[in-house]
Amino acid sequence: MTFDNIQVEHDGGVLVVTINRPKVLNALNSQTVDELRHAMTAAAGDDTVRCIVVTGAGEKAFVAGADINELAEQTPVGGSAHAQRGQALLDLIERLGKPVIAAINGYALGGGCELAMACTFRVASDAAKLGQPEINLGIMPGYGGSQRLPRLVGKGLALEMLLTGNRIGAAEAHRIGLVNRVVAASDLMTEVRALAADLASKAPIAVRAIIAAVNDGAEMPLAQALNHEAALFGLVASTEDMREGTRAFLEKRKPAFKGA
Ligand code: CAA
Repeated sequence: MTFDNIQVEHDGGVLVVTINRPKVLNALNSQTVDELRHAMTAAAGDDTVRCIVVTGAGEKAFVAGADINELAEQTPVGGSAHAQRGQALLDLIERLGKPVIAAINGYALGGGCELAMACTFRVASDAAKLGQPEINLGIMPGYGGSQRLPRLVGKGLALEMLLTGNRIGAAEAHRIGLVNRVVAASDLMTEVRALAADLASKAPIAVRAIIAAVNDGAEMPLAQALNHEAALFGLVASTEDMREGTRAFLEKRKPAFKGA
């Protein structure tokens, strides 16, 4: 498939997906959401992709939210369907079974902050600004922001961000646990590519199991979540990569994982 609004670059085991609508600060219109869904579905099924990076084109924005031109025209039924399409994309990203890194190169607002929160890791440039400003448009987050934000930063801070609509800087986002790392703007993609290459070298079945254990377990009572972890542990113990990883340790060499 060819894309109009995103660029996709596959280098080694790493796929870099760049949202490319810089004139509207990479706002997510319906076509962009569809293109991202296609790219992510293809990445999920491609064994040569071990890690995905999502970023925004230009100097200014990661993603400045859902496209307000479309939101301005929405009906109640259309609005609900719009939210479900966005949520489906973000669920796909969260549960892709491969690490997805948000390289937050500027504004990550509304649907942009929600996209970043669905990723496995968030690395922000020191110039990034994050927030959920929907309240200032007379609406609320529709791509999971009212659910993922409190799970990441706690209910009190989430309610403050959601109800004031205020933007926070990268340092504050790091302090409250909204981003994993903050790096100089000029080093962002170098740092993210290094992290992505490291993650791409890990055992893919174990990576998939860890992402599943954390996401599924967060929705379960502890006893059930621990059973789930034990079942996944047993599955991982049946892999060639488990034998390779343990043997490599004992032989004092680097493991070469195959995803089998
Ligand atoms: N949708 C559509 N267009 C957008 C946009 C968006 N989310 N964000 C920015 N743009 C457009 C602007 O309209 C402007 O277009 P023109 O050049 O044609 O005027 C262009 O991008 C550049 O933006 P600004 O001139 O506003 O740039 P700035 O530097 O002065 O301000 C900003 C930057 C603070 C990010 C400001 O653009 C802004 O507040 N954007 C909207 C952010 C927002 O409210 N996001 C939430 C959307 S709702 C949502 O996401 C709901 C959901 O949960 C799904």
